[in-house]
Amino acid sequence: MPGTCVIGLQWGDEAKGKLVDILTEDHEIVVRYQGGANAGHTVVSNGQTWKLSLIPSGILRDNVTCVITGGVALDPASVIREIDMLEGRGVRVEGKLRISDRAHLVFPWHVAEDKQLDGSLSGGEAIGTTGRGIGPCYRDKVGRSLAIRLGDLYREEFRGRLEHIVGIKNQLLSGWKSGSDSKPELLDAAAIYDQYMQYAERLRPYVFDTTAYLLDAIEGGSRMLFEGAQGALLDIDHGTFPFVTSSNSSGVGVASGSGIPGRWIERVIGVVKAYSTRVGGGPMPTEQTNTIGEHLRERGREYGTVTMRPRRCGWFDAVAARYTARLSGVDELAVMLLDVPGGLGELKICTAYMVDGRQTSHFPSHVDDLKKAEPVYETLPGWSEDLSTYRSYDALPAAAKGYLARIGELLGRPVAIVSVGPDREQTIFCDRTDQQQKPWPRPQSRTPANA
Ligand code: GDP
Ligand code: IMO
Ligand code: MG
Repeated sequence: MPGTCVIGLQWGDEAKGKLVDILTEDHEIVVRYQGGANAGHTVVSNGQTWKLSLIPSGILRDNVTCVITGGVALDPASVIREIDMLEGRGVRVEGKLRISDRAHLVFPWHVAEDKQLDGSLSGGEAIGTTGRGIGPCYRDKVGRSLAIRLGDLYREEFRGRLEHIVGIKNQLLSGWKSGSDSKPELLDAAAIYDQYMQYAERLRPYVFDTTAYLLDAIEGGSRMLFEGAQGALLDIDHGTFPFVTSSNSSGVGVASGSGIPGRWIERVIGVVKAYSTRVGGGPMPTEQTNTIGEHLRERGREYGTVTMRPRRCGWFDAVAARYTARLSGVDELAVMLLDVPGGLGELKICTAYMVDGRQTSHFPSHVDDLKKAEPVYETLPGWSEDLSTYRSYDALPAAAKGYLARIGELLGRPVAIVSVGPDREQTIFCDRTDQQQKPWPRPQSRTPANA
């Protein structure tokens, strides 16, 4: 079975982009199936840094087709900017990128609603969205009556539909008060129409029925890599609601977002940082608002790719990551940024929570319980070596190997890949015999009915 899937197991920014770029070498098609321009992936190859948001990180390789499916909230201006940036730097995009005609479009009113609504929540209540219009775009998708998809831009009915929607959105906008007590600027349907017609012309060569394309390809045996955006703790259904994003960013989103049945996915790689980060609001039990957090932020350059916000940093949370590894059906782990916690002395891993005086290894389903959770830590020896030059698992300091082994043990999955720096070269593929093979429960394979 030809599908591999990369899923972040924390709150995003686990270095999925770096991993996807590396794994693309063994795949023919790379698929982005949820999220939107809220994602920001930094990939470093041969000393060059690339920042990608909507286009899969696989685009940096030749002989690969990159697909943005109908599950993505597509900001046309963002994707065009990315195409221009890549082509301007010598990366061919035309002929390598296919965008679904089913993708729902982000419009200026989505961005305005996102900022207005999140901004209206006080302090601890604010989600701290990226302000890219993602939530409002998905809300209109689910609501249906105010949604416009990429394929609609090429139909005559688009103009009338746009005017109708702009009329309704202007009614909503005029009911809002901005901070300065003046009304927000109203939308101009004619200007938006002209702008989106220009986008439509620019994007025309890239627009496909990607569901049909992917089904043909996977049934024909193509090796496909599914690139999850965000992290499983931000999943709309299974994450730390309401401090989440608006799509299924855990493994459960692959099938709905791409149209490829989950049974085609053979290998799920769960990506974690060697510690925890979170950007935006919401509880984070292992957060360190002290010199430990500062060490992680400065050494890991933990500032958002999209918004440049400083990321909140803390110890590795094995309760949360074990939950999301199970939820996403993870087969093996990639532990990224292992070079960052070096030099901290002893390291801590959260192995349980105390909630209302009771110890539990269960990840709470209600955010109020997660807010109350006091981490129970296990302390492990740290290391002072600079790991960024290490290229083999065996050569790693004993404390680093012990730390990786403990993460694998707590999550019940083997550590297959370790990253010790942003560059492609700074990656270790573990060929280890000291790890149990597939110790977690897996479904029995089915015997075909006609066997
Ligand atoms: P993504 O959204 O999951 O793709 O992750 P981001 O790109 O937003 O954030 C990960 C950051 O860590 C990027 O700046 C990467 O260049 C960087 N990075 C990736 N792997 C490593 C690593 O092993 N060590 C260090 N120090 N940085 C890394
Ligand atoms: P990548 O793919 C980290 C967070 C935002 C906010 C919440 C909701 O780079 O890992 P949204 O704009 O989606 O409505 O914001 O989700 N968030 C991310 N955090 N990495 C991301 O993507 C994120 N995408 C959204 O900070 O807390
Ligand atoms: Mg990111």
